Amino acid sequence: MCANIQYRHRACQVFNQFYYKRKYSSGKCIFAKIIFLMSKKITPYKDSALSKKEQVAQMFDNVSNNYDFLNRIMTFGIDIKWRKKVVAIVEKKKPETILDIATGTGDFAIMLSKLNPKKITGLDLSKGMLDIGIKKVKDKNLDGLIDMVLGDSEKLPFEDNSFDAITVGFGVRNFENLDKGLQEIYRVLKTDGIFVVLETSQPEKFPVKQIFNFYSKYIIPTIGKLFSKDKRAYTYLPQSAAIFPYGQQFNNILEKNGFNNATNKPLTFGAASIYTATK
Ligand SMILES: C[S@@+](CC[C@H](N)C(=O)[O-])C[C@H]1O[C@@H](n2cnc3c(N)ncnc32)[C@H](O)[C@@H]1O
Repeated sequence: MCANIQYRHRACQVFNQFYYKRKYSSGKCIFAKIIFLMSKKITPYKDSALSKKEQVAQMFDNVSNNYDFLNRIMTFGIDIKWRKKVVAIVEKKKPETILDIATGTGDFAIMLSKLNPKKITGLDLSKGMLDIGIKKVKDKNLDGLIDMVLGDSEKLPFEDNSFDAITVGFGVRNFENLDKGLQEIYRVLKTDGIFVVLETSQPEKFPVKQIFNFYSKYIIPTIGKLFSKDKRAYTYLPQSAAIFPYGQQFNNILEKNGFNNATNKPLTFGAASIYTATK
């Protein structure tokens, strides 16, 4: 395994490589084991005794009030363009039932309403995020169409084969147990249903990569510290993005958890990616 290591240039890619190779293959390298243990969990609050899931819920409760505002300024509004692409992919399926997991303040659930499905369900772990989403849904008179549910993606309160389409926007990297979350999504997706993930990824080409890394490491935490009452949150978010598998690695994880036809499409020089898969 050591001889095959090609990721020399970035510590976080090394983390990625070792963590996920170790998890999804049978590598034996001692260095890999050390890195694996070091990188096992990036949690919002380093000294907290709470589980990652509890910390994630607490962190998103803390940032919920200005989450939408910070999202827009930190992505320069480009996330709206990315979201529209996800909606366009889902539209092709003409879904009647849609589940938006890790719906947060409900942006995806609301955008998906333009597809005129029979029912949209938004599910999230954080009551703070969900409360903002419920208000947005009500203000848009969409509460008859969109149900906002407090729940955990790793233990979904739905029957097998319930949804034609399932989306997750910037959520999968926050799951405490990624495999469990994906297996639950697979379970509740209908056969022939579509699963679409929008998640941050890593630009790989000079100079975008360097600019992106600088922006993630220094600018995002600084903006977070200025505007958010949770000083740690906007350090955790880019850190968790930096170690999260992307591209083919994430396709492999999807397929390992049962999905078919996993494909990825990098957006904006690879700053984010859309993954699609079927059941
Ligand atoms: C970065 S926010 C994304 C919100 C929204 N999807 C968007 O596109 O803006 C991540 C969300 O994932 C939620 N989340 C994290 N782990 C979860 C889990 N296991 N089950 C459900 N929601 C979860 C968090 O509470 C948070 O609201």
